[in-house]
Amino acid sequence: MGLREQIDIEKLPSHVAVIMDGNGRWAKEKGKLRVFGHHNGVKSVRETVEAAAELGIQYLTLYAFSTENWNRPKLEVMALMELLVHTINNETKTLLENGIRLNAIGNLKALPDKCYKELQQAITQTAGNTRTTLTLALSYSSRWEITEAVKRIAQEVKAGSLQPEDITEQLFSNHLSTAGMPDPELMIRTSGEFRISNYLLWQLAYAELYFTPKLWPDFRKDDFYEAIIDYQKRERRFGLTSEQVN
Ligand code: FPP
Repeated sequence: MGLREQIDIEKLPSHVAVIMDGNGRWAKEKGKLRVFGHHNGVKSVRETVEAAAELGIQYLTLYAFSTENWNRPKLEVMALMELLVHTINNETKTLLENGIRLNAIGNLKALPDKCYKELQQAITQTAGNTRTTLTLALSYSSRWEITEAVKRIAQEVKAGSLQPEDITEQLFSNHLSTAGMPDPELMIRTSGEFRISNYLLWQLAYAELYFTPKLWPDFRKDDFYEAIIDYQKRERRFGLTSEQVN
């Protein structure tokens, strides 16, 4: 039986978040520049999006560029932005054909103009799609997002439209850039690193974490299926006992 057939379609996570890591090391292993790894990472993005959409996973969120990534060598940052523009341009048609809605979270205003415009255009074009929502975390960091949410809540309190006692977990969630999305039930990180790296810290509170040594450019549909199968074997207790859950 193939890996895909081992997946219980009734027990899919509704939201999978991914940290795509290891592009640089993958390129270095081959004696190439880091950018070569990023270029080859696009195929893995395509496979992962396809796998998620085919299974019927509603939300897929990919960490494409962190706030901290701005500090990388200028040439690498420029190459990554170019690659983003190019990929969004190339893939919008496929997103439309497959019912995938594009979304982005992060400090998008920090992106180069061309990248920002391209992204907004693709987001608008795919806005009517309902099969899977693909969210790109771009110029994103969770602490930035949480700080922004706190600022907005503080402004509402200052303006008198919100009372401090009305601040709840739900209200806080509604002020994050992921408002309206379910929290990820599964977070996958490639490249053998066991970290969360400032990614969806609030939203991952109860997520199952899955780490694979595969470097991102080697990640394929079967690797995604393996992560889902592993997730389906876990017992999610949310602080309760095993007996309570069962
Ligand atoms: C991490 O590898 C990867 C990134 C910072 C960028 C991910 C970008 C892509 C896969 C390109 C296209 C993406 C989209 C959504 C179109 P790393 O550079 O940190 O690798 P290392 O840890 O081995 O140095």
